[in-house]
Amino acid sequence: RDVGVLGVPFCKGQPRPGVAQAPQRLRDYGMLKKLETMGYRVHDYGDLQFQEFPDDYPAWNIKYPRSIGASCKKISNVVEEVTEKGQVALTLGGDHSLSIGTVHGHAMAEPNMCLIWVDAHSDINTPMASPSGNIHGMVLSFLAKELQKYVPRVPGMEWVKPCLSTKDIAFIGLRDLDPAERCIIEQYNITCYTMHEVDRMGIHRVLEEALHSVNPNLDRPIHLSYDIDSLDPAVSPSTGTPVPGGLSIREGMYIAEEIAATGQLTGIDLVEVNPELGSKQDQELTLFTACEIIGACFGKRRKGNVPEDYV
Ligand code: ARG
Ligand code: MN
Ligand code: MN
Ligand code: MN
Repeated sequence: RDVGVLGVPFCKGQPRPGVAQAPQRLRDYGMLKKLETMGYRVHDYGDLQFQEFPDDYPAWNIKYPRSIGASCKKISNVVEEVTEKGQVALTLGGDHSLSIGTVHGHAMAEPNMCLIWVDAHSDINTPMASPSGNIHGMVLSFLAKELQKYVPRVPGMEWVKPCLSTKDIAFIGLRDLDPAERCIIEQYNITCYTMHEVDRMGIHRVLEEALHSVNPNLDRPIHLSYDIDSLDPAVSPSTGTPVPGGLSIREGMYIAEEIAATGQLTGIDLVEVNPELGSKQDQELTLFTACEIIGACFGKRRKGNVPEDYV
């Protein structure tokens, strides 16, 4: 029952600076206090310090590759160490580009790991196919072994060892995919439950099938990468790339509760909270939602929890 928390005040994977304020705002909101109240020992490693790269010009259309590459290398090392200590690595973003580091580090410590990616977006654009050049939309293309034939040598990313198979990835909540992303998902038959499937099947069956496909015996460590924009803008308005028609807070909590209940959740990212977007009320609501989701990831159940010392 140990959690290792890493703040990543990072925003260069996308164009809106406010996302770098989220780790501090989530701490101020009481997220870590909440985990302590739940009985966890919280080891806060503070906010990661980044190296400055003054001449970090784009490679092809990829923006800030050296800054992001160097940061993710540090993040990977911290997450690997934290995981090896037996702590659940909780990384507070920052934009989603940091998951190149967290997933990599987790996989270095737990090579048998699988990945559940809860997001409105699939973040699997290859650098050449990305319409925006923002690295937060390319994360999985750097990590998936099968996709390396489409990924050029990007300055800053040379250290990344593709450490996942496309078979180890399950998407939930998608509803805004670029054409190349749809092609990759179909070509590699990646497990993918978009909002269409959530509507058709219900969240219960989505979770059952998603877990079954990447972790049939529930014996593999799970990395949960939770992009707050997976949730509907009605409950998480303060995020850089909101997309209507998202998960309800109930569906979002159900996902977290079910994955927590496997007992295999060893790495969590919470990304893309941007506490500078929207009204004061929007910002509070987004922080509230984020804290509810993280509570559920750590075993808080809506049906209530029996205290640990109850006899
Ligand atoms: N697909 C778009 C892109 O490549 C949007 C990605 C949004 N990603 C995110 N982590 N919010 O730029
Ligand atoms: Mn090691
Ligand atoms: Mn997203
Ligand atoms: Mn994302």
